[in-house]
Amino acid sequence: MKKINVGIIGLGRAGQMHLHNLMTLPEVNIIQLADVFIDKFSDKLHDLGFDNLTTDYHDLLNNPEIDTVFVFTSTDTHEQIVTDAAKAGKNIFCEKPLSMNTIERASLNVLKEVKKNGVKLQMGFNRRMDPQFRDIYTQVRNGNIGTPQIVKITSRDPDLLPHDLIQRIGGLLFDFTMHDFDMARYMMNSNISEVYAKGGTLIDPTLKDIDDIDTLALVLQFENGAYGLIDNSRKAVYGYDQRVEVFGSKGMLKAENVSQSTVELYNSANKIEKKPLPIFVQRYHEAYIAEMKAFINSLIENNPVVATGEDVIMAQRAAIAAQESMKTGKPVKVNTHFSLD
Ligand SMILES: NC(=O)c1ccc[n+]([C@@H]2O[C@H](COP(=O)([O-])OP(=O)(O)OC[C@H]3O[C@@H](n4cnc5c(N)ncnc54)[C@H](O)[C@@H]3O)[C@@H](O)[C@H]2O)c1
Repeated sequence: MKKINVGIIGLGRAGQMHLHNLMTLPEVNIIQLADVFIDKFSDKLHDLGFDNLTTDYHDLLNNPEIDTVFVFTSTDTHEQIVTDAAKAGKNIFCEKPLSMNTIERASLNVLKEVKKNGVKLQMGFNRRMDPQFRDIYTQVRNGNIGTPQIVKITSRDPDLLPHDLIQRIGGLLFDFTMHDFDMARYMMNSNISEVYAKGGTLIDPTLKDIDDIDTLALVLQFENGAYGLIDNSRKAVYGYDQRVEVFGSKGMLKAENVSQSTVELYNSANKIEKKPLPIFVQRYHEAYIAEMKAFINSLIENNPVVATGEDVIMAQRAAIAAQESMKTGKPVKVNTHFSLD
């Protein structure tokens, strides 16, 4: 069996989850791990059998044994680390987004570096690999609902995030809605060409202090003429609410929330069913493993990756347009042309 020698950069919330998932894949040989606060995690990592630890990610990039790096650091570091990794000739998996910057040129320069060095880059749009959403995607492509006309996404987090985390990984639009922009475009097989956004702080007014919002409603227009609706909240008291619907000329496809149990209780007053799975780690467990398997497979078989640099730029453009729309109160056009030349 061909093995891929990997290094992992960033061992926070996402990094630790991905580390455990990567450890289950027989083709993955984890050589070295980096985090600026590696001491915080070193006992746990030693217990898992990892001794080659560093605070400096350049050590992984200079390690000739390592051919692939996984970047799970906070978003404000992605552009720099991906650029450095590409220059070092490493294949790269990077958590989404590439940037929380509204200057697209910086992100395009990172992708140019990736292209120039001939390495692979897969972005962490894990929801593409969720079994229910993938089923909708396949059925839309197979024509089971005719021509898709409207995609409707409900995406609500179970609770507010600490402000310092938001400042490192991005606010609602650049961290959370980023997934939904990608999902909408993926389902409709068409670029988002216009965004109209209304957002505010209906839950935590102090988010204004860090220029963030907690509630968002979006209307999208796609290049092919179809429409999209997205609603986001940072606090759904019943759990992590993740639903997708695609409506078309011959019918509709929809994926409801996933719960721990399908058992429902019926009594004289109510019908009671289990709440949705509580948070991303549980809800998208299969998707996170599937995105890693797909990436490893793309390295071994030299297949295309499932979420590219172009995909992340298109989501980033939609987020930038939504931000502008909220400011101006008007719909904002999105550039649908992509080129690295
Ligand atoms: N796809 C998903 O569903 C999903 C879920 C959660 C987070 N994320 C993404 O994952 C990324 C990390 O988010 P998080 O919540 O784990 O953040 P976090 O702050 O919990 O973890 C980030 C880690 O990176 C380390 N780090 C920061 N700069 C570094 C550097 N230069 N070198 C080495 N280590 C460095 C930090 O010390 C920290 O341990 C973000 O981009 C976020 O958007 C994606």
